[in-house]
Amino acid sequence: MTLLGRKLVVANLGGRIVAMDDRCAHRFAALSKGTVVGDTLRCNYHGWKYDTEGKVVNIPACPEQPIPKKACATSYDCEVKYDLVWVRLDSSWDCTDIPYFSEWDAPGMRNLVVPSYTWNTAAERRWENFTDLSHFAFVHPGTLYDPAYDRPPIPAVDRVEGEMRFAIEPPPEMLENLPENCPMGSFTYRCSMPFSINLKIQLYRDATAFTLWTTSCPIDDTHCRNFLIISRAQKDDDPDHAHAAFQKLVLQEDQPIIESQWPAEISMDEVSIVTDKVSNQYRKWLRELSMAALEGKDAFAAVLRTQVIDERR
Ligand code: FES
Ligand SMILES: [Fe+2]
Repeated sequence: MTLLGRKLVVANLGGRIVAMDDRCAHRFAALSKGTVVGDTLRCNYHGWKYDTEGKVVNIPACPEQPIPKKACATSYDCEVKYDLVWVRLDSSWDCTDIPYFSEWDAPGMRNLVVPSYTWNTAAERRWENFTDLSHFAFVHPGTLYDPAYDRPPIPAVDRVEGEMRFAIEPPPEMLENLPENCPMGSFTYRCSMPFSINLKIQLYRDATAFTLWTTSCPIDDTHCRNFLIISRAQKDDDPDHAHAAFQKLVLQEDQPIIESQWPAEISMDEVSIVTDKVSNQYRKWLRELSMAALEGKDAFAAVLRTQVIDERR
C-alpha cells in the first residue's frame, strides 16, 4: 500500500500486524513480493528475513557472517481498529487518535465493511464530496434526488475534540418527492480531522437510524483510497448486499464528477458561496492545521484541539 507517497508493506507476522517500508535493504526489491515465514517476512529475491521490528535476522547466502547494522527496513507504529490497519509514519507525532466511530462496538449493530475503492482525487475532495449538501439534486437523480434539495440548509459548524460537527435537517417538503428507498432523514456528522466522517442518519420513512462511517486514505496528492463501513441494527430481513449495492450506486454517480475536478488538490482560486459553509469551514481548519504543522507537534495539537461553537444556529 502507499500512504502519503510512501510505499509500505503491511504483514501479519506470527499474529502481529506490522508496517514497514516496502523495500529490502539489500538490493531494494519490494518486500511486498515476499513471503511470511513464521514471524518473519522473507524477501523473495535473495531470501533475507525481517523480524517484526524490521530488522534483518537471517541472510541465507552467508549465515556465518555478522548481519550488517544497516540491514533493516524502517518500521512504523501501527494498530488495527475497525478492521483497518492504521499507520503513523512519524511516531513522535503522537497527538492524534484513531477517528471516532459511533457504532463500531455498539451492541445489536451489524457492521458491513464495504470493499475499498481508489479515486483519482485528493482525499480532501473526497471528504468534501461526502459532506456536500447541495449536489444531491444534480449528481444523484433518482437515488438521493429531491428538487427541494437544490437549496440546502446551512448548518451550524462546530469544532469539538478534533472533530467538525454539524447536523442538517432537510426541509419537510422533500418528503413528498423522495425516491423509493431513498435513505433521507436527519443527518448528524462527526468528522475526525482530516479525512474521516461519522454520519448518522435518522430516516424519515421509519425513524430507524444507521451510520455511514468513512475514511479517505491519502495515497498521494492526487489519489485516495477510501473505506466505508455501514452500521445498522441487526435484523433478519435486511441483507448486506442491498446496502452495499445502494452505496455502490451512489459512489458511481459521484466518482466521475469528483475525478473531473482539476487540479485534484483543492485550490484557493475556487469560488465559494454561503451554502458551501461546511467545505469553507473544513478548508479553513485544514489550512490552520497545515500552518501549525510547520511549527511543530505542539502547535498542531493545539489547533487540532481548538473548541469553536458556531453561534449561528
Ligand atoms: S533484494 Fe532482498 S534479499 Fe536481496
Ligand atoms: Fe454524492
